[in-house]
Amino acid sequence: MKDCLAKIVKNAEIAENVYEIVFDLGETLKIRAGQFGNIAVGGTHLLRRPIAICKAEGNLVTFCYQIKGEGTQKLKTMGTGTKLNVLLPLGNGFYVEENENKVALVGGGVGTFPLISVLREYGEEKEISAFIGYRNKGAVCGVEEFEKANKFVAVTDDGSYGEKMNAVQAFAGALKEGYRPDVVLSCGPLPMLRALKTLVEKENLPCYVSLEERMGCGIGACLVCVCEKTDGARARVCKDGPVFNVKDVVL
Ligand SMILES: Cc1cc2nc3c(=O)[nH]c(=O)nc-3n(C[C@H](O)[C@H](O)[C@H](O)COP(=O)(O)OP(=O)(O)OC[C@H]3O[C@@H](n4cnc5c(N)ncnc54)[C@H](O)[C@@H]3O)c2cc1C
Ligand code: FES
Repeated sequence: MKDCLAKIVKNAEIAENVYEIVFDLGETLKIRAGQFGNIAVGGTHLLRRPIAICKAEGNLVTFCYQIKGEGTQKLKTMGTGTKLNVLLPLGNGFYVEENENKVALVGGGVGTFPLISVLREYGEEKEISAFIGYRNKGAVCGVEEFEKANKFVAVTDDGSYGEKMNAVQAFAGALKEGYRPDVVLSCGPLPMLRALKTLVEKENLPCYVSLEERMGCGIGACLVCVCEKTDGARARVCKDGPVFNVKDVVL
């Protein structure tokens, strides 16, 4: 983990209210799929913003962020050449076991971005099927990446792109047709993760989910990001996660 003074080399809108920002770290770090960075947007915003790492290629690291509040509003105004402190890579990330050959990715909203990193890390060696849900056609992004998967099903809440359904329903449809992955990896809004948990429990499928919690330090020290585990213990999403076995966490 390193606090890099990273230079913005691209910061552009790629879908409605979604921006892709590429940083030159000035060095190459070892980054695993599903890890994230904590970006200091500066000014009065003391807390950094945690954002999943989408791609890492040499010195360049790409994040995709949705405009939400003040921090991301500020980030979108920053031009190329601006330098920001980015602490990375953070968290455990997704790990696919050697014997898990068929991988299902189920993602919705901003949860689609860390799944792109899974596809980039495991796409060559694993058979990957991606079930991705967007709000509407305007929110669709990352299609060129997901099209590299063995199977890509894009759906929207309003049916303006692909079928009208959510990512879990799309995945359930494939299961009904006989598809059976060795492992399911997911990231997305809580209602989506809850629906997925019910489905994988019924189907008896191993499943790992990446959680989003409000964060402070991002390195396990402040306990802002704790989540509840099914055994009654607590875990820090930033350090013990953000990826957990769905069986182990209360959603
Ligand atoms: C591990 C992880 C990965 C994430 N990856 C992405 C991603 O790839 N793309 C993306 O668009 N968003 C991602 N998020 C959510 C993103 O961190 C928030 O949308 C962002 O921090 C909002 O900041 P803001 O200042 O615009 O919003 P505000 O609402 O003004 O933020 C106020 C404070 O709350 C925190 N906060 C608000 N919403 C969230 C949230 N959902 N999760 C965590 N902290 C929050 C902010 O960091 C800030 O400290 C991720 C969150 C986590 C925890
Ligand atoms: S954000 Fe500080 S412990 Fe997780």
